[in-house]
Amino acid sequence: MPGSILSLPECTHRGPSFEEVLAQRRSVRRYAEAPLTLAQLGQLLFAAQGATPDEKGRPLRTTPSAGGTYPLEVLVFARAVDELPAGLYRHLPDVHGLRLLAPGDLSADLKDACLSQPWVARAQAVLIVTGVPERIRPRYGDRSAQYIYFEAGQMTQNILLQATALGLGAVPVGAFTEQRLQDLLHLDPAWESALCVIPIGPRPE
Ligand SMILES: Cc1cc2nc3c(=O)[nH]c(=O)nc-3n(C[C@H](O)[C@H](O)[C@H](O)COP(=O)(O)O)c2cc1C
Repeated sequence: MPGSILSLPECTHRGPSFEEVLAQRRSVRRYAEAPLTLAQLGQLLFAAQGATPDEKGRPLRTTPSAGGTYPLEVLVFARAVDELPAGLYRHLPDVHGLRLLAPGDLSADLKDACLSQPWVARAQAVLIVTGVPERIRPRYGDRSAQYIYFEAGQMTQNILLQATALGLGAVPVGAFTEQRLQDLLHLDPAWESALCVIPIGPRPE
């Protein structure tokens, strides 16, 4: 039911060395058939904006943010993820969970919004990084737009490197029709905008 919250598993993955991951990362547009596991999805979302409080207990995250304002959100379209009904979800970093926004298979519509790029529909999951300017504008004014793009790039790279470390393939997709994507995700453009689309699936053998 829309609004219901699902907990993600604890992150326990220990992968290859950071240097190996850097050397292996590539934009991957073809995926094997197997579904993603919920643990893999949880690890990807932890890389994006996992809670990593500091020694004073301040609520910091895996991706840096100007002044700790955290203007980014992550939406997930799950097409084929074990234990997760197909649908659109919002990641809740504070509780490492997902809130269901809309059940169902959006893959064909997502592909259309991304200029018919086939890997968007074939991916087992698609992460969409969005920005909420009102969270950062009171503090950074005219610099806010640059900072949001800065942060979206940093978050996207965290996701891409984590996908590589998990043996998955992913690609950052910037070519999309903004209005179509906003409508599909039910985003109010006065509040929240889609910034990057990241299809993810198992790397083919
Ligand atoms: C801002 C940005 C937008 C991109 N948009 C797309 C896209 O819409 N579709 C796509 O297939 N690849 C897209 N890419 C991936 C690039 O094509 C890819 O990074 C580049 O060819 C270098 O290859 P590599 O990532 O394997 O090193 C984008 C990359 C960036 C940084």
